This record gives sequence, C-alpha cells and structure tokens, in this order.
Amino acid sequence: MKRYENKVALISGGAGAMGLAIARRLACEGAQVVLGDLASADAGKLDECFAGWPAPLALTLDVTQAASWQAAFEQTQQRFGRVDLLVNNAGVLSDTPRAFEDVEIAEWRHVFAVNVDGVFLGTQAALRAMRRAAAGGAIVNLGSVASFVGSKDSAAYGSSKATVRNMTKQAALSAARMGYDVRVNAVHPGFVWTPLVERRLVHQFGSREAAIAAASAMNPRGRLVQADDVAAAVAFLGSDDARMITGADLIIDGGRLIQ
Ligand SMILES: NC(=O)c1ccc[n+]([C@@H]2O[C@H](COP(=O)([O-])OP(=O)(O)OC[C@H]3O[C@@H](n4cnc5c(N)ncnc54)[C@H](O)[C@@H]3O)[C@@H](O)[C@H]2O)c1
Repeated sequence: MKRYENKVALISGGAGAMGLAIARRLACEGAQVVLGDLASADAGKLDECFAGWPAPLALTLDVTQAASWQAAFEQTQQRFGRVDLLVNNAGVLSDTPRAFEDVEIAEWRHVFAVNVDGVFLGTQAALRAMRRAAAGGAIVNLGSVASFVGSKDSAAYGSSKATVRNMTKQAALSAARMGYDVRVNAVHPGFVWTPLVERRLVHQFGSREAAIAAASAMNPRGRLVQADDVAAAVAFLGSDDARMITGADLIIDGGRLIQ
C-alpha cells in the first residue's frame, strides 16, 4: 500500500542528508517530492523511486525569508497542483562547541533565523496553502533530543530546537481550533551521522571513529540512529495513519532520553 499516492511533499533542507532520506522514503511511498534548499539538491539520488512519473522538483529556498517560502509554494502548486505535506527539515548547528558565555550574538541569531524563523515562516505558508484544501494537509517539524534537555556546548541549537517543539504545539492547536484539517507534529532524532553531526563530533572527539563510537554509546541500544529511521517516522506522522495525532513529539533516539 502506498500511503502517499497522489500526494505532494515539500521538504526544506532537501539537499541535506536527512532531507534526501525523507524525500526518498516519501517518494518510494508514492509522493511527488519537492526539495527546497539554499544548496542544490541531487535529485538523481531519488531515481530508484521515480520510475514512471514526473521527476522531483528541486528549487532554491531560503527558509529565513517569507518571500522565498511564498515562491516555493507557488512553484510547487504550479508544477503539481497541491501541497499535502511540508517537512520543516532545514536546520543548522554551529561547527564549533562553545561555552554559553562565548556564543556570539551573530551565531545565536543565525541559528534562530534558520531553525526557528524558518519553521515559523514555513508553517505559516503551509497553513495558508492547506487550510482550504479539500484533502487538508500535514506539517512535520525536525526537532532534536536537544529540544528536551541541555546539550553540550550547543546553547543556540538546543534553545532553538526547544522553541521548535513548543511552536509545533502552538501551530497544531491553532490549526485545530480554526477548523483546518491540518495536523502539525515534530520528530526529535538523536545523533544521526550526517555532515551536520560529523562536523561537530569529529571536532569534539578528535577522529571520525572516536566520534561514531561515542555517539553510538550515548543510547541504550548502542547504535546510531539512521536517517532512514527518521524518514520512517516523518512518513508515519505525515500520513493518514496518524490522522488523530497532532501537536505530538516522536522521539527517535534509541532510548537516549529515558536513561
Ligand atoms: N543529524 C542529526 O544528528 C540531527 C539530529 C537531530 C535533529 N537534526 C535536524 O535534522 C535536520 C536536518 O539535518 P541534517 O543532519 O540533514 O543536516 P545537513 O547539514 O546535512 O542538512 C541541512 C540542510 O539545510 C540546508 N539549509 C541551511 N540553511 C538553510 C536555509 N536558510 N534555507 C534553506 N535550507 C537551508 C542546508 O543547505 C542543508 O542542505 C536539521 O533540522 C537538524 O537540526 C539532525
């Protein structure tokens, strides 16, 4: 059964590791996917899922700009006629760990611009596009285990992801009370080995091997979360299987936070 047949999904940060894994999963379940990113996305990585229907659309999106979101939704609607799912996946983490008092305001503002303003503006654009759609819609935000607890030397990132967690609930509640058939949920991954994490952990642990070993040992299951594990959770929350789930947090961390 293909849960996303005839559905269209827009994924911000779609050129990144997690964005592509999410896009591949949705495409393999039948979705038309749109990859929005500042960087150019290699849509060829989705070929295995695209036999017989239009290729994915890769477009330039700066999530910090309302006009860029508006253009992305317009282009998506022109090409595919609708948007059923927005995945607010674009995000940044500073490469350099810093003590709280050493975080520069420019870094703080950049992290908040992408991780918080980006999700806020994307959610607004999606609600405007989906609120009158006969088939409704869904929004899935990328939080992090850092949404729940302090994370080492990542004050801006953790604070921004905690905001994403609450913003998810604000948007979910508002949409439901307005009578829109739109659900808003968040997934919260532990460490997934993507360039974002590699840059940070190799710096922290000195080598790739040491970083992977340390990240794996952080959770009771003793292995890293894979981007595909996150993609499966996004695909669930965005689908009709989750039709009564809104404002929820789905933690994908191998049990890290239950310790
Ligand atoms: N990798 C992990 O361990 C992990 C854990 C928890 C949460 N997350 C979250 O998952 C999401 C994806 O992370 P990733 O690991 O794939 O990182 P990544 O660095 O591989 O991908 C992030 C993407 O966001 C894009 N981006 C950055 N600024 C942008 C902007 N202004 N407009 C549009 N696109 C922009 C980048 O170009 C990049 O392609 C992020 O929100 C991240 O915080 C990642």
